[in-house]
Amino acid sequence: MRGHIGDMEAVMAMCEEHGVDLVEDCAHSLGGRYKGKHTGRFGKAGSFSTQSHKMVNSGEGGVLVTDDEELYAKAVLYSGSQEKFWKKHFFESSHFDRHQENVPNFSMRMSNLAAAVLRPQLELVEDWIGVFDANYAALETILSQSEYVYVPPRRPEVRRGPDTIQFTLPDFDDDQISALTARLKACGLAVDVFGRPGSPRFFKSWRYIEGIEATRLPITEAILTRTYDIRLPRTLTFDEVSAIGMVIVDAIDDIVAPLEVSPASTAPR
Ligand SMILES: Cc1ncc(COP(=O)(O)O)c(C=O)c1O
Repeated sequence: MRGHIGDMEAVMAMCEEHGVDLVEDCAHSLGGRYKGKHTGRFGKAGSFSTQSHKMVNSGEGGVLVTDDEELYAKAVLYSGSQEKFWKKHFFESSHFDRHQENVPNFSMRMSNLAAAVLRPQLELVEDWIGVFDANYAALETILSQSEYVYVPPRRPEVRRGPDTIQFTLPDFDDDQISALTARLKACGLAVDVFGRPGSPRFFKSWRYIEGIEATRLPITEAILTRTYDIRLPRTLTFDEVSAIGMVIVDAIDDIVAPLEVSPASTAPR
């Protein structure tokens, strides 16, 4: 989620124990590495988004990576490869002929135009990671000055270029969160928590999963309803990042000053 990378050794051990194939959603973790290994290279497949809010931007689109030859062939066919258009790809496989007529064609190919916009950006990823990381570190430093704010600690084995930042206010109640969101909006910072009703990042919004409304995940819900998510476009300057940080810290102070809330603990509750 949002490019955070967990303990991949523990994740892989769990998958192995239960016979589960891992598919990595790497929408926000392009360039991210765990102990030097790229995200998307741990599981059976990984998918990267190149939609316009992501580190590399082709307007819409994305990339699938896999070492599984059959999966690769099927993905090419699903994306649209009627009349043996797969022959134009750089990799031949007997799986194409085998699956040609069994795999539906969803015609979701990336256009040449989008690919042409994307390819030069890929060469800049390493440089951009430094920019994203510097902006993130600057905001992390300012936010961490507030005793009410919890920013997830960095894992030394992880390298990433975050295009968003998340911070939690573990001791805030629902009214304080609403008041803070309103105050930030009034200051020109239209941000919100993951756990707002209707948010696509809040599991309660996933009505396509049967029984989701009855699902009780109280710890997850407590974290999501107190965790803000802010986009950090690469073009933000240091001054802009500093201003964002100061606006947030001042707004938090304004909310808590008359209410005497106890300071944040070291972990979200
Ligand atoms: C974790 C995650 N997966 C998937 C997506 C969707 O990517 P796309 O818009 O390219 O389908 C996003 C978009 O932000 C995301 O954050």
